[in-house]
Amino acid sequence: MSVSTQPEATDRDFSQATIDICVVDDDPSIVEMLGETLSNFGYRCFGTSDPQEALEFVGNGKGRIVLCDLKMPSMGGWTFLEQALHRDPGVYVILMTGFYSIDSAIEAIKHGAYDYLPKPLDRQRLKKTLADLAQQFDRRRRIHDLQQRLVSYLEFHGIVGRSPAMIDVLEMARKISRHYVNVLLAGPTGSGKELVAHAIHQMSPVANHLFAVCNCSAIVDTLLESQLFGHIRGAFTGATETRAGLFEYADGGTVFLDEVGETCLAMQAKLLRVIQNREIQRAGSPEVRRVDVRLIAATNRDLRSEVAAGRFREDLFYRLSTIQIRVPSLAQRLEDVPALITFFIKKYNAAYGKQIQGLTGRAQTVLLRHAWPGNVRELENVISSASLVSLNDFIDVHDLPEHLQKPERAATPAKFWRPMPLEEVRREHIERVLDLCSGNRVRAARMLGIGRTSLYRYLKREGRARPATGIPAA
Ligand SMILES: Nc1ncnc2c1ncn2[C@@H]1O[C@H](COP(=O)(O)OP(=O)(O)OP(=O)(O)O)[C@@H](O)[C@H]1O
Ligand SMILES: [Mg+2]
Repeated sequence: MSVSTQPEATDRDFSQATIDICVVDDDPSIVEMLGETLSNFGYRCFGTSDPQEALEFVGNGKGRIVLCDLKMPSMGGWTFLEQALHRDPGVYVILMTGFYSIDSAIEAIKHGAYDYLPKPLDRQRLKKTLADLAQQFDRRRRIHDLQQRLVSYLEFHGIVGRSPAMIDVLEMARKISRHYVNVLLAGPTGSGKELVAHAIHQMSPVANHLFAVCNCSAIVDTLLESQLFGHIRGAFTGATETRAGLFEYADGGTVFLDEVGETCLAMQAKLLRVIQNREIQRAGSPEVRRVDVRLIAATNRDLRSEVAAGRFREDLFYRLSTIQIRVPSLAQRLEDVPALITFFIKKYNAAYGKQIQGLTGRAQTVLLRHAWPGNVRELENVISSASLVSLNDFIDVHDLPEHLQKPERAATPAKFWRPMPLEEVRREHIERVLDLCSGNRVRAARMLGIGRTSLYRYLKREGRARPATGIPAA
């Protein structure tokens, strides 16, 4: 039953006019009467005698306030309160009863009701209760707007975060951007190295030239050589035409080499030549060509220990690392998490056509307690999937991925410890990392610190030999 009459002009203001209130009472005459009263106050009203219908109203995120009778034959007010809060913890339920007592009122508030009103309802009291709520909504909306504006202040070339650790990174990036020839960006996977590389290029004198990206770990060595340096016709089987590589293509601009620590020693020798002499040779060609490029390389490995282990050329390491910027893990700058959440909610509201306002308090607590092994990329994935599944204005715990819904396991692993065979620990760990990387095996192998082939071999042994689900963004 939908009720709407002309509102009392003096009672109406902007925030009330945008608030939907649901009235549920088994007595249809009360539903009608209350509907009229609320419309006169200036609210939009939806009335029903069916508690199930009212719960759907709550579940669909249509209304934030419910006025509910305590004694209804099909479902009591207490059960309704519990189920409504389960569907949307942000809903405000006001219980109405003809059997009012202070004890039961306190009990109702303890169980999550916003208020507990005696029947017949006192018009002025109801008006005041709803006006307080409308004011609270208004305040929240203003805080939300302020947060949105704050995020744009906290954004720098698409990089959100003003923790002291990030300020250092951005300050260094700004300082070197006018002068760099080679830069090394170190930091764990998903921490934002590519974003920082892009910002450095954008602030550089060659900003109007190309920023070319190559992910060295995503392609096999022979293809990598051809991609970076180009090849001549007939250089290898399938080379049907002569092609320029990325260094020539980006001449005058910047080449970003992601995962430089994954390159083989032969490739490293060729990179050293580019850095030292700005010279390249297309595969299969004796001709030496000069290129004028700036180079930004990134790695999530500790290159110094790679040098010690003989897997990375020492001379290349010293050449690359004359300017080194370390991008901190998200765990080292948890104060950036709230601004990043606001930023990603805005991003995915636009992408999915949603109007999510934020997170419920308990969902926020879960995210602030998490260790973020996948760093900002993991946080972005969490907000993206939660935005997609959430039906309400606020993302709640049940919208978050399953592994986050049981935070105590991650927070206190010792409590859950049991003696397990090493093989089982290994299997569980690999599964969790694969889960974290959304099944992306290249990224998972990197996070596990093992080679791609070792991971493929392991999965094959486990009978999971289907093809990898993707390669990291280049
Ligand atoms: N400070 C930040 N503000 C906004 N978005 C960010 C920030 N840091 C990272 N991101 C986003 O997180 C994702 C991962 O970032 P990026 O690709 O730059 O990480 P990376 O360090 O290069 O990771 P990898 O080592 O796996 O290549 C991207 O979608 C990026 O836009
Ligand atoms: Mg990267």
